[in-house]
Amino acid sequence: MNLFDVYSLFDVTPVKAQGCKVWDENGQEYLDLYGGHAVISVGHTHPKYVAALTDQLGKIGFYSNSVKNPLQVTLAEKLGKASGYEDYSLFLDNSGAESNENAIKLASFHTGKDRIVAFHKSFHGRTSGAVAVTDNPKIVSPFNANHKVSFCDLNDAVAVEKELLKGDVAGVIIEGIQGCGGINIPDTGFMKELESLCHKYGVCLILDEVQSGYGRTGKFFAHQWYGIKPDIITMGKGIANGFPCGGILISPKFEAVKGMLGTTFGGNYLAMAAAISVLDIIEEENMVQNAYEVGEYIKAGIAPSPRIKEVRGCGLMIGIEFNEEVAPIRKELLFNRHIFTGVAGKNMVRLLAPLCLTKAQADVFINAINDILK
Ligand SMILES: Cc1ncc(COP(=O)(O)O)c(C=O)c1O
Repeated sequence: MNLFDVYSLFDVTPVKAQGCKVWDENGQEYLDLYGGHAVISVGHTHPKYVAALTDQLGKIGFYSNSVKNPLQVTLAEKLGKASGYEDYSLFLDNSGAESNENAIKLASFHTGKDRIVAFHKSFHGRTSGAVAVTDNPKIVSPFNANHKVSFCDLNDAVAVEKELLKGDVAGVIIEGIQGCGGINIPDTGFMKELESLCHKYGVCLILDEVQSGYGRTGKFFAHQWYGIKPDIITMGKGIANGFPCGGILISPKFEAVKGMLGTTFGGNYLAMAAAISVLDIIEEENMVQNAYEVGEYIKAGIAPSPRIKEVRGCGLMIGIEFNEEVAPIRKELLFNRHIFTGVAGKNMVRLLAPLCLTKAQADVFINAINDILK
């Protein structure tokens, strides 16, 4: 049997990883500035993380959500403290897309309405509703396209209000910082206006923090830079450092009804052990602050070049936009300098390094990119 061939693969086979380093099957070492697409938050194979998962696996690996699981409660308590959302509730699922799916469903249940407002250049995942609110027609099948969704330009509050005035909108979904769309940071003024428009029209504000959350930008959630409080916050990626896990934080204004949301695997023991250890490590090793400092250090270290259009981002969510296609630059970085990077569109190198990246490791990248561009 062949694999269903949907991924474009680099000819690299990682077999070992530690912190911000990865080794391939030939023993070649790489610096990981991609974090497996923003998933590796506390670094690869952190000893505490490995111990937590190993220990849990020897106790109980799985049961269902029909019995008590105190690890879920522990995670909720720690997450409430780490994020500043102690008055919100936590629903656990398995991925970013599923988190957005649950958020949209909850907004629709709560308001009794069925349309969602999303933004151009958004990415929210590939399941039915999540892909419908994603601004990429190439990955939206005719079935997905039947959802009621309206897209507005980022930062266009007038366009949003026009949609909300129609009276059928359940929720507005927006990324804390647009990731796949090219590291687009919404204006603070716009985000505050969006929050007040949602209050005014009784619409749920959903913040997708799947990529921009969990400390990546130097605050626990990127939206905390704008001083707003959404109704629902969606999470995934870095939440369990690579063990599949997702979740949503839900404002106290939502009433839980038995059976309203559910999942087989969400909140399982192994995911919880992983997620609890991630929060412990982030706190003990001050990784949110580190992400901010090292991210700003990288941005400042990239020398101006006529080939670079703009360097933007916050903390360790960085986009280097070029005036040319970046595929050859990324290949040079990967195969000759042995540095993993990500991409957004054709012209942007996207960095999503583990939150434990050191300045010395950042220097390796800064020197490489400046050397390539000189
Ligand atoms: C902002 C955002 N939301 C949702 C998702 C979907 O997450 P998952 O691939 O875990 O379903 C992603 C994935 O890249 C993302 O970047």
